[in-house]
Amino acid sequence: MIRLEQVTKRYGETTAVNQLSLEIGKGEVCVLIGPSGCGKTTTLRMINRLIEPTAGRIFIDGRDTATVDAEKLRLSIGYAIQSVGLFPHMTVFNNIAVVPQLLLWENNRIVRRVGELLELVGLEPADYIRKYPSQLSGGEAQRIGVARALAADPPILLMDEPFGAVDPLTRERLQAQFIHIQKEVNKTIVLVTHDLDEAIRLADRIAIMESGRLVQYDSPEIILSRPGSKFVRDFVGADRALKRLSRISVKDFIKPAAAVNVNQPKKEALASAAGHRWLWVVDDDEQLIGWVDTKTLMQSVSTKEAMDEGDAVKISILESATLREALSRMLELGFKHIPVVDDSQRLIGEVALGDIEAATAEGKG
Ligand SMILES: Nc1ncnc2c1ncn2[C@@H]1O[C@H](COP(=O)(O)OP(=O)(O)OP(=O)(O)O)[C@@H](O)[C@H]1O
Ligand SMILES: [Mg+2]
Repeated sequence: MIRLEQVTKRYGETTAVNQLSLEIGKGEVCVLIGPSGCGKTTTLRMINRLIEPTAGRIFIDGRDTATVDAEKLRLSIGYAIQSVGLFPHMTVFNNIAVVPQLLLWENNRIVRRVGELLELVGLEPADYIRKYPSQLSGGEAQRIGVARALAADPPILLMDEPFGAVDPLTRERLQAQFIHIQKEVNKTIVLVTHDLDEAIRLADRIAIMESGRLVQYDSPEIILSRPGSKFVRDFVGADRALKRLSRISVKDFIKPAAAVNVNQPKKEALASAAGHRWLWVVDDDEQLIGWVDTKTLMQSVSTKEAMDEGDAVKISILESATLREALSRMLELGFKHIPVVDDSQRLIGEVALGDIEAATAEGKG
């Protein structure tokens, strides 16, 4: 879909981008990452020809972009910039409508499209279309920026630190939303970030840059498990084994959990423990409601009496969680096993610390 061939950009003595070759497949999310000044923004802006390369060629769908009218090219590529870049004197509606208006869409179609996009990014159209950028929170402004980039439904989206200007919590939410939106729209996306965790979470492939050069271009799993150079190893840091866990779903690690019904007689409960010291406790709807220590149970009259009540939301994880979430929940609670529940808090199984450790060890090297 997008192919860079030996692309170089020089500013006098400075080489901002140095013989960069990179290929991004249709529907892929490529994340450019690297230290400040390594050439990420320059690379992005050469793709839509806001900056002309000094040497090398860039192809989109097999066509050399140098042969395409630059204006037309830009209208066909969505661009969300580093500092959001909404026009302050224009309403949210007009900000999102900029490109469709330039493309001379009919007004009805534009109105419909703006409504759709606001819904897509999780903002109620009626509440937002008349607002001005100064009346938006940082996170809302970022979302409007994303909506604007998507406005004319371009196949390609360039995003320069789209979630850079918000607090960590909002950022996490925007990332989750990004993943959700991308599932729906399936664009080819080149996204720049400073944040490795963000790259790991969002990327199909990560391009690590250093001083204008591409030093590694691989899936997050491979970048973390097999960094190709000292620079990459240092860049991804000592906790890369941990970071890898955030790419692995707990789904494949769920094993049957030892559990008892809260109303089950003590004897039966103990019999079903089969060597387990701890048992999860569920109610008649199979919903997780706590756990019981079999040692305490032996001294008690009933399962109910011996049980430690626990809020399922706090003591379990969802099937959709990652191993990293499972691990941090275990550390928080001091459990060696963590129960896994479905959306209705029904117990599905459990994940063991030992299995997570094994998964971590596999990627070492
Ligand atoms: N118009 C320009 N004139 C001269 N030098 C420039 C120009 N634009 C960028 N540079 C230089 O090119 C290099 C790459 O800049 P670029 O903006 O691509 O970095 P970046 O990786 O996006 O950095 P950041 O993470 O800080 O946004 C830097 O050394 C920068 O100083
Ligand atoms: Mg930049």
